[in-house]
Amino acid sequence: MVSLLIATRNAHKVGEIRAILGEGVRCLTLDDFPGAPEVVEDAETFAGNAARKAEALARWLAERPNVKPGTETGEWYVLADDSGLEVDALQGAPGVHSARFAALDTGHPGNSSAADNNAKLLRLLAEVPPVERTARFRCVLALTPVPRFPAGTAAAPGRAGEMVLRTELFEGVCEGRIGLAPRGQGGFGYDPLFIPAGQEATFAELGEAIKNRMSHRSRALALLGAKLRD
Ligand code: IMP
Repeated sequence: MVSLLIATRNAHKVGEIRAILGEGVRCLTLDDFPGAPEVVEDAETFAGNAARKAEALARWLAERPNVKPGTETGEWYVLADDSGLEVDALQGAPGVHSARFAALDTGHPGNSSAADNNAKLLRLLAEVPPVERTARFRCVLALTPVPRFPAGTAAAPGRAGEMVLRTELFEGVCEGRIGLAPRGQGGFGYDPLFIPAGQEATFAELGEAIKNRMSHRSRALALLGAKLRD
């Protein structure tokens, strides 16, 4: 059986990934690997951040065969994601800075609250008419097979640094536009402001089931699921 370390502690994301991948893939998360390193997400693209995370964890796992339960029984992969909102009138911002968009102005460390991020977005778009408020959510998933050391070579910390990794990327996009005011109670982040193409309601009003049918994350996951079921 294929085993997947999902590089997140976000239970919502893990549930979504498990539901799409089904029974054939054993899913573990960072909660199952308390010693796993924190990876800084400071790349300039979603793909760069996702690959950086997946590859750092794949090398870490390769060097520690004993921390992988059932390691003899099949392929191991690391799955990492990065996602965010791109607003055309803001030249693609907040982009990779989506989680800490408001904090960019204050220098405050860590992520900003969704309320602060949404307030900043509305402020920057105050003069922008509805037809020019086009935007999209983008999600990139990086899947990295955990490399194996050649027979007779001992795995040890620091030894996987030079190993060549075969990372694959899967991208999902959901087009839409930014509303004039927050609406709805569901979802998280920018959901109360994001109206997907073909709808009049925001993601936060549409609710999880409908959002999951069209979201950037579910589209990227569908591509990944097809690959893992091959
Ligand atoms: P990450 O991929 O968890 O790092 O997400 C980065 C940020 O993008 C989140 O903190 C949210 O602000 C935003 N974001 C990503 N996906 C969504 C979504 O589905 N709805 C609303 N906001 C999102």
